Amino acid sequence: MSSVHTSTFSAGTAKRWLRTGTLALAAALTVATASAVTLTTAPPASALGNGLALTPQMGFNDWNAYGCNVTESLIKSTAQAMHDNGMQAAGYTYVNIDDCWMTHARDSNGRLVPDSAKFPDGISGTADFVHSLGLKLGIYEDAGSATCAGYPGSLGHETTDAQTFASWGVDYLKYDNCNNDGSSARTRYTAMRDALAATGRPILFSLCSWGQESVWTWGADIGNSWRTTGDIQASYSSMLSIFKANVGLAGYAGPGQWNDPDMLEIGNGSMSVTEQQTEFSLWAEMAAPLIAGTNIPQASDTTLGILTNKAVIAVDQDPLGKQGTEVSSAGGHHVLAKPLSGGDVAVALFNETDSTATLSTTAAAIGKSGASSYQLTDLWTGATRTTGDTISASVPAHGTVLYRVSGGTTAR
Ligand code: GLA
Repeated sequence: MSSVHTSTFSAGTAKRWLRTGTLALAAALTVATASAVTLTTAPPASALGNGLALTPQMGFNDWNAYGCNVTESLIKSTAQAMHDNGMQAAGYTYVNIDDCWMTHARDSNGRLVPDSAKFPDGISGTADFVHSLGLKLGIYEDAGSATCAGYPGSLGHETTDAQTFASWGVDYLKYDNCNNDGSSARTRYTAMRDALAATGRPILFSLCSWGQESVWTWGADIGNSWRTTGDIQASYSSMLSIFKANVGLAGYAGPGQWNDPDMLEIGNGSMSVTEQQTEFSLWAEMAAPLIAGTNIPQASDTTLGILTNKAVIAVDQDPLGKQGTEVSSAGGHHVLAKPLSGGDVAVALFNETDSTATLSTTAAAIGKSGASSYQLTDLWTGATRTTGDTISASVPAHGTVLYRVSGGTTAR
């Protein structure tokens, strides 16, 4: 599927979209006549239309670093650390509770019950604290009879659970797919979408059906993002296989509707710093949600330096909302290009192989033309240089050089 959509729609439709705050649309509109306009880029208003995640969501989730050991104090100390260490200022907003936050039984009214040993102030008290810092709170549930860790699921309880989450001040729901009844995920996820909408509270809806049933083909009018694969592990091989599964799905992504290749493993497991920079570069290039999955209060300066690289984050968060695409891929040498608002292009030169190599592309291949030279900014070193038609770099094994390319004109 092409990443470029062209469609014609009425001026009335355009006005409605603009009224709902889809500012990115304004840049994409070319007025053809007084009564019709032509849209020359991916539809910026998400089909879901809840106004959320117009750029990929950024935040934290406890699962990868802590598994089932989530607590209120963990969430609060993480939120405080994000507030103090520059992550919040860099754009990380959502502090997300994963599985294991509740008790094994609903109350007499059928409502979910937070585990009071883990959350003495409940989810509501935790939300109050997170909100007091200017951050938002996320929670986890499941479109089956039980969550993946065996706690009560939301299937058949969607209205009650959505109302409960809204009453607690929840801003984000990650909705998993364990222990389902075999009915279509689309139907089960739609039920929760409608229940969330009925609460009137804006709640970002993150689908976690692991890419099953080709969720990218139907997820856009149901959720703000959808996991495209199984769970990531903190290893280069896991990250690499997820990159390869996600990179071809660019045509389905856009403002409010993102492919989700799972959490960042920056600071976790066996990945080298080079490999962690590769994950961050590729996730940004693919306009992925940036959800840190590490121990934030104890994160090293190196980990925080990667997570808060503002130039790389700006690629991910670019308001044009394009997922980068592979312009070439041979022998483990991947070249990706992501058009940015204002005409720059972010180019990732990713060397999958075990030895240093020179990776090259051209201005024409990344959609640039009309200039005798282009400006390259290396987004990890900050170095800038000028080049003619060739864009190349020596890239270490498993490494990525990420350039912002300026100059000339850009075809999208
Ligand atoms: C699934 C999800 C993970 C995590 C666990 C929790 O495996 O894909 O991201 O939420 O469940 O049990």
